This record gives sequence, structure tokens and C-alpha cells, in this order.
Amino acid sequence: MQIDSLKIDKPVFMAPMAGVSDFPYRKIVREMGCQLVYTEMVSAKGINYGNNHSEELIDFSREGGLIAVQIFGDDPGQMAQAAKEIDNKFRPDIIDINMGCPAKKIVKTGAGSALMKNPELAEKIIRQVVKAVSVPVTVKMRSGWAENNTNAVEIALKAEKAGAAAVAVHGRTRNQFYRGKADWQVIKEVSENLGIPVIGNGDIFDPQDVIDMFNETGCKAVMIGRGCQGNPWIFKRIIHYLQTGKILPRVTEFDKINMAIRHLQMACDYYGEDIAIPLMRKHLAWYLKGMPNSSKVKNEINQIYDKNKVVSILESYRNHLL
Ligand SMILES: Cc1cc2nc3c(=O)[nH]c(=O)nc-3n(C[C@H](O)[C@H](O)[C@H](O)COP(=O)(O)O)c2cc1C
Repeated sequence: MQIDSLKIDKPVFMAPMAGVSDFPYRKIVREMGCQLVYTEMVSAKGINYGNNHSEELIDFSREGGLIAVQIFGDDPGQMAQAAKEIDNKFRPDIIDINMGCPAKKIVKTGAGSALMKNPELAEKIIRQVVKAVSVPVTVKMRSGWAENNTNAVEIALKAEKAGAAAVAVHGRTRNQFYRGKADWQVIKEVSENLGIPVIGNGDIFDPQDVIDMFNETGCKAVMIGRGCQGNPWIFKRIIHYLQTGKILPRVTEFDKINMAIRHLQMACDYYGEDIAIPLMRKHLAWYLKGMPNSSKVKNEINQIYDKNKVVSILESYRNHLL
């Protein structure tokens, strides 16, 4: 598939996830063959005010693939200014506009999925961002704000008209948050109505889901969120399946714990232990999910701030499992 002039031969992307799709995890996912990864969402206002945290969220390496920086905001001028600054300073491959975040603190400002209630403003934002930057601009949206107003087709058509190079559609409304089942029919309707590529998103957890998503919706690529939490191998398995039609065996508990340790090490190297250890707790819990007696191990880890101690607990748990 192609997004503007960017040719992508493995159409399986990692979704933007605040608190998850950070620098260390993007590196791991890229090693698994994922060609396009997204940053966590970054505040346009934060960028315009020179907020260090916003810039930290953007920090990326070009090594191993393409990067989309996702921004959120509700003001066309502010969004365009932030996008321009990001383009000039960081030169990402894509700038993505967040029209899907359901969080109260974001939607009450008019940003994220609240933009789906205001199609004119959404279009204005996209048009001004497209004008301000030299890279392709994409939009990530939900199916709509609420069940009685699933207007993804309308917003996607406006995005295309405003110059977006692709749209990603998460088949849930804002009011659903992450509950229930994603509605792939909406993704199909958007695909049928658009000339630019559509990226399907929602409830992809294994290789067969990707085939189903392609067949049922006609989308050109898929985007994976929760399915890659504690499971970076999902990209390798899906890409292998798409290329060969064969399913790779699942990784062992031994491999998962080793990856957990490596991920922890990478996060500590990147952030320093003080920041990395609390940030890593959810990732470690995801890696250990479903393993025998892992809740005891997780509880133990959650009390500790020393990397070496966490590693030694994980190693002894791993050796005990063998
Ligand atoms: C922890 C978490 C953080 C997320 N953060 C963002 C974000 O920053 N920007 C965004 O557009 N979507 C965000 N999302 C939504 C995902 O990108 C994705 O659309 C959603 O999880 C549905 O895909 P899935 O069923 O594969 O998880 C987030 C989702 C989760 C679970």
C-alpha cells in the first residue's frame, strides 16, 4: 500500500497508544517487522508553548522504519503551527491528527473524538495542517461520537477533501470507549467511499483477524493497539502469515519473560530507573498475563523501584517455570 509517496509493503501498523507506544516499545515492535509506528498523542498546545514533555514524546529514531507523530488539539491555527514546528524540527514521515481520543479531559477541550461532533472544524484543522507541512497528513478517527451519530464517512470525506493522505478508522464510537465489539461495517463504508487509503482498526488479536478485516472492509492496512500489549510478536506472526499463509508457533513463556527483562532494560536506559520502573509495571503485567501464579510476581514487582531487584524476581520466576 502507499500513503502519498510512502511505499509500505507490510500493511500492519502499531497504533498510537498514550503510555505504551513510546520510544523503547516502538524499537521492539520495529524489530518484529512493523514498518509504520505512531508516537503517543502529543498536545499541539504543548508544542507551541515549548513544553519539554511534549517534545520528549516525539523523540524518535528513523532506524528500521517509518514514524508518524500524532498531535491533538481543537484550534486550526494552533494545530497547524505545532505541525509545522514538528515537521521542521523532527522531520517525521507522517503527521497524524487525533480525532479519536475519548478521554474526558481531552474531549471537554473540543479535541480528540469531540472533533467528530464538529465536522466543519475538523475539516478546517486538517486543511490548515496539510497546508503547513511538507509531509503527508493522516487522520485517525472513531466511527462517530455516539451510536445515533456514526458519521465516520462524512468526516473521512472531509479529510480527503482537505488533503489528508490516509485515514485510520477505529470501529467504535466515543461513547463506547473500548467496550463492546468494534464495528467493522463502518470501516467498510469509509473504504467504499474514499479514494485515499483506509487503515482499519479495532479488535485485531491474531493473524486471522487481519485477513478477516481485509476481506470484510476492503481497507488497505490495519492498525493494532491492545493486541500488541505484551505481545510485540503479533507483528511478526501477522506479517509471516500474510507472506506465507503459515502460522508461526506462539512464543514460549521463557521468551516472554526474556523480552520483559529486555524491555525493562531498554526503558531504564532511555528514561532512567526512577521513571522507567513505574512506567514498565503495566508492560510487565501484560507479558506475564496468564502465566501460573503470575499475580504474586506482579504484586511483588509493583512494590519495587530497583531495576536489579525486578530483574532478579523475573529471572527466578522464569527459571522456576522451566
Ligand atoms: C492505553 C491506550 C492508549 C491509547 N492512546 C491513544 C492515542 O494516544 N491516540 C490515539 O489516536 N488512540 C489511542 N488509543 C486508541 C488506539 O490507538 C486504538 O484505536 C484502539 O485501542 C482500538 O484498537 P485495538 O482494538 O487494536 O486496541 C489508545 C488505546 C489504548 C488502549
